[in-house]
Amino acid sequence: MTNSKNILMTGGTGFIGRYLSQQLIKQGYHVTVLTRSGADISNSTEHLAFVNALADLQPRTWYGVINLAGEPLNKTRWSPAQKAQIISSRVAVTQALNAWLRGLSTPPEVFISGSAVGWYGHWDDECLDEDSPSRAGFSNALCAAWETAAMAQADLTGRLCIVRLGIVLGNDGGSLPAMLLPAKLGLGGPMGDGRQWWSWIHLEDVVRSIKMLLENPQATGVFNLTAPYPVTQIEFARTLGRHLHRPAVLPLPGFMAKLMLGEFAEEVLLKGQRVRPKKLLDSGFTFNHPDLPRALRDLL
Ligand SMILES: NC(=O)c1ccc[n+]([C@@H]2O[C@H](COP(=O)([O-])OP(=O)(O)OC[C@H]3O[C@@H](n4cnc5c(N)ncnc54)[C@H](OP(=O)(O)O)[C@@H]3O)[C@@H](O)[C@H]2O)c1
Repeated sequence: MTNSKNILMTGGTGFIGRYLSQQLIKQGYHVTVLTRSGADISNSTEHLAFVNALADLQPRTWYGVINLAGEPLNKTRWSPAQKAQIISSRVAVTQALNAWLRGLSTPPEVFISGSAVGWYGHWDDECLDEDSPSRAGFSNALCAAWETAAMAQADLTGRLCIVRLGIVLGNDGGSLPAMLLPAKLGLGGPMGDGRQWWSWIHLEDVVRSIKMLLENPQATGVFNLTAPYPVTQIEFARTLGRHLHRPAVLPLPGFMAKLMLGEFAEEVLLKGQRVRPKKLLDSGFTFNHPDLPRALRDLL
């Protein structure tokens, strides 16, 4: 046991969770990661522990829970069974956390649970914030199920924050590394008509905003974790091309994307939403990487 604040994290071995746990540890937190991987257990250190089951957790006072675990969206083609797995992997972990929270004598101060801007569904140029309605579709159904599971434990913790993540940009995972090779070959261009909005955010700002939500006692409810300046897909491709000194002209027709990637292409790449982080901005959060050129300059 240490005197630092204890955080329980699911998804702590993933792209976001790995960087988030490293940064929280630097800030003095003690992080325990719930993972399905047996191999990680032996990697436990003084400030970063791994467990395979909630029942294995040592009794202690938990300051916060961060819930990011879920089957990756791009793991394989979306069959009906795979879509069910994408949803149930997130809901099952969240429900298991709820059951565990019910057994604690001292509830954590804050529970931060994942979601995505896909909650809003597909829109054209409308600017969306946390008060905007949603439109039906698979991404909405997935995020709504995940958020509903988290909301079931609102009275089991001091504060519940739901983070609707945009496309997270970083070097060690997420979408950016997969975009780099085609862009370097001059193959990055408009996907479909290229007018779909991509609401992105730099990984560093994800971590800084989650830390703000952990520590700000006023922070509660839904927060869009997106940069203040989203872009259309073609603007994204052109900005990336400029940074790589490559043209971004070769189009990927929508039917070809659907042929290659199936429904994932339709839901995630060819349609989007223009999301504004209203609640983060209202709470005084300042972005280190508010616009795409600056974010890419930092990352590339
Ligand atoms: N990256 C983005 O741009 C982005 C955007 C919007 C939303 N999100 C959401 O934010 C969360 C974290 O994103 P990420 O990019 O860090 O994800 P990631 O790298 O794919 O990591 C996800 C984590 O979930 C766990 N996991 C994977 N499959 C699972 C399953 N079937 N059942 C239970 N746990 C499973 C894994 O942990 P173990 O193997 O250790 O168990 C893994 O560490 C994800 O839920 C993702 O959908 C991400």
